[in-house]
Amino acid sequence: MEFPRMLCKSQITIITLSVVILLYLFFETLDLKSHLPIFTFPNYPSLSACARPPPLRVYMYDLDRRFNFGMMNAGISGGGPPSEVPPFPERSGIKRQHSMEYWMMASLMYGAGGVEGMEAVRVSVPEEAEVFFVPFFSSLSVNIHGRNMTDPATEEDRKLQFDILEFLRNSKYYQRSGGRDHVIPMQHPNAFRFYRDQVNASILIVVDFGRYPRSLSSLSKDVVTPYVHVVDSFLDDDPADPFESRTTLLFFRGGTIRKAGGVVRLQLAKILTGKEGVHFEHSTASGEGIRASTEGMHSSKFCLHPAGDTPSSCRLFDAIASHCVPVIVSDYIELPFEDQIDYRSFSLFFSVEEALRPDYLLGHLRQIKKERWLEKWNALKNVAHHFEFQYPPKKDDAINMLWRQVRNKLPTIRRAMHRDRRLKVSDWWR
Ligand SMILES: *[C@@H]1O[C@H](CO)[C@@H](O)[C@H](O)[C@H]1NC(C)=O
Ligand SMILES: *[C@@H]1O[C@H](CO)[C@@H](O)[C@H](O)[C@H]1NC(C)=O
Repeated sequence: MEFPRMLCKSQITIITLSVVILLYLFFETLDLKSHLPIFTFPNYPSLSACARPPPLRVYMYDLDRRFNFGMMNAGISGGGPPSEVPPFPERSGIKRQHSMEYWMMASLMYGAGGVEGMEAVRVSVPEEAEVFFVPFFSSLSVNIHGRNMTDPATEEDRKLQFDILEFLRNSKYYQRSGGRDHVIPMQHPNAFRFYRDQVNASILIVVDFGRYPRSLSSLSKDVVTPYVHVVDSFLDDDPADPFESRTTLLFFRGGTIRKAGGVVRLQLAKILTGKEGVHFEHSTASGEGIRASTEGMHSSKFCLHPAGDTPSSCRLFDAIASHCVPVIVSDYIELPFEDQIDYRSFSLFFSVEEALRPDYLLGHLRQIKKERWLEKWNALKNVAHHFEFQYPPKKDDAINMLWRQVRNKLPTIRRAMHRDRRLKVSDWWR
């Protein structure tokens, strides 16, 4: 990881400097004895602090499989908590984009010690846990149980949410913390929609804050996850001249009729369609579409990411997996792992207002020299592994990055819990 390594370097520098100063004092000062006793070695963190912290201890509730794997396919029926991880369905199409919940749950079920570099470990005794994971596939439930409020199948979704809420309210661990140390995946913008306001103290794993009020979700309490990319990872991306071999300047393929901030898509379509070097195509999501997008992104220098129904969308993570430099036009987007990743090193950001100025965006892209583009392309290749969801998980992949984000919430959770318990008046300052 970039960050801990930097910290270690600076620690080493400080310690080296201290030694140099000590030596200087030793040789330059005649009155040595009067100096040494007061010159104590500064108390810097030891070098062992550079090592990874121990994995987060997670207790996963034993939920009946109807809340998780049971929704995946007909082959997994029966009751009781699942004991093994079914393979992720090959032909899941775009449902895959919301499958973070599956990979998170799976990561906790992988062997006793897990793989090298695991940031979380499952504990079987709740008392030993630092956080509690709720393995409810709230996004899959939306995707399969009726997509609109009037669809009778939506009742299924509501029922699952209701049952989870009941279950949590009866858990003494949930009661103990008011849910603060509970981790609930909520990736689809409509996930858990009927009762999510009731679990607002928990650590929610979300893609952005487009559909949530502040009382439900915030950057300080919650974790932003990537979408799970649906195009294939570009594994052998090593052409002699990547800049020239990507012949399209700017690529976009997707729906242009969108709600909320997504109306910008139609405006961008008007400005960009038919311009030299631009491939702007209206399409609906489908298996065929995924193949076309993979090809398009692999052969383009830049990939446009306008807001969709919410500020973020899977397209950004498809672009990253394709090493196509993202051009982000979404004023309210939130990005995953931003404490560790500077997206400007491999992306370009334009405000909606800038992007809609005639010729502004394209003019800008055309001026970008090959060297600068190559820097971004190389940076993309170096970060892409942080956005891979896989089983078994690997060191520093998306799932381990997510667990690390959860671990970073621990001090805030503990403070809130301790403070809540001793306050004699209603919380007067949040
Ligand atoms: C909602 O879903 C039902 C059942 O699938 C469908 O008949 C109805 O047209 C949908 N309504 C809207 C507004 O999309
Ligand atoms: C949860 O929502 C309620 C009602 O809006 C609010 O009073 C409370 O402060 C929220 N809790 C947290 C932890 O944000």
